[in-house]
Amino acid sequence: MTMQDPKETEAELVAAVTGAETLEALEQVRVAAIGRKGRVTDLMKSLGAMTPDERRTAGPLLNGLKDRISTAIDTRRAELEEAALEARLQEEHIDLTLPTRPEMVGSVHPVSQVTEEIIAIFADMGFTLAEGPDIEDDFHNFTALNMPPEHPARQMHDTFYLSGEQDGTRKLLRTHTSTVQIRAMMSQPPPHRIIVPGRTYRSDSDITHTPMFHQVEGLVIDRTTHMGHLKGCLIEFVRAFFDVDDLPYRFRPSYFPFTEPSAEMDIGCARSDGELRIGAGDEWLEILGCGMVNPRVLENCGIDPNEYQGFAFGMGIDRIAMLKYGIPDLRAFFDSDLRWLRHYGFSALDVPTLAGGLAR
Ligand code: DAH
Repeated sequence: MTMQDPKETEAELVAAVTGAETLEALEQVRVAAIGRKGRVTDLMKSLGAMTPDERRTAGPLLNGLKDRISTAIDTRRAELEEAALEARLQEEHIDLTLPTRPEMVGSVHPVSQVTEEIIAIFADMGFTLAEGPDIEDDFHNFTALNMPPEHPARQMHDTFYLSGEQDGTRKLLRTHTSTVQIRAMMSQPPPHRIIVPGRTYRSDSDITHTPMFHQVEGLVIDRTTHMGHLKGCLIEFVRAFFDVDDLPYRFRPSYFPFTEPSAEMDIGCARSDGELRIGAGDEWLEILGCGMVNPRVLENCGIDPNEYQGFAFGMGIDRIAMLKYGIPDLRAFFDSDLRWLRHYGFSALDVPTLAGGLAR
């Protein structure tokens, strides 16, 4: 039997291997070379018909051939797999920095913008941000805030209750952010200086009320803080927030179970031709509730009222957003109407800072 020179066979097969451009083509080359009926396999089979002498020289030659072809195939396969992965990575690559729909630019909701403005002002006065859960218990929402069961002030809150637990207690949706005063005072020793924006809930709906709304709470507790600090802090806040340096204000005596004494703060405004202007004028707008933290609240949180005192305040974020940016109907805040959002929304790049300015 005449046999093709193994060297020639090897050169042909190696050329076929390196010439294979795809994994499928390479597989065909492999089958044709070292598969069950491949050329190298046939050559190996021919060893059986040889004389022992012939076999002694041809055997190592053919085995070497088979090894080199196998290695060449493995190397080429690795190259092709690498190239395939590279191609796939290129193809599936997405540029996350590109806008998905350049014609659709999103905007920041006025509530988010105003929350950031409030945080910026109070952070500058040394307050830190605190948060608490929307689902609360009776203790944090009422009892610890000096509203024990049957307290008449509870009725004013139109509370949403969740269905009862096994032990008869019912969770509720917090009716104010004052709950976080309690959480802060019970989880850390004084002093405290926190600002707490968040969602609040009451079963109420009309042009100035929605069942979900936003409040921001403030709390300062240390050994020496007094009513003068409360007034100074809030006057500074309203003037910075509304960007009116001589904004008129007044504090009216009021009642909250968790503060003693309690007050409400009004700011000056003028109304003409159905337009509201914040600043000097002959009318007043109520914007927040405040007071010196009631000693009983301190006691409820394990703080000695003979050593510590301080003030608290709470205001509606939606309401002051409406006042600042002249937005007439509160309910539209939560309608998700794109035309409204485009009109009243803010650019994502309009980050409020005291240095850069808060107003648009
Ligand atoms: N929690 C009160 C409300 O929801 C607002 C409030 C008033 C908070 C006086 C206070 C405060 O911290 O001192 O109507």
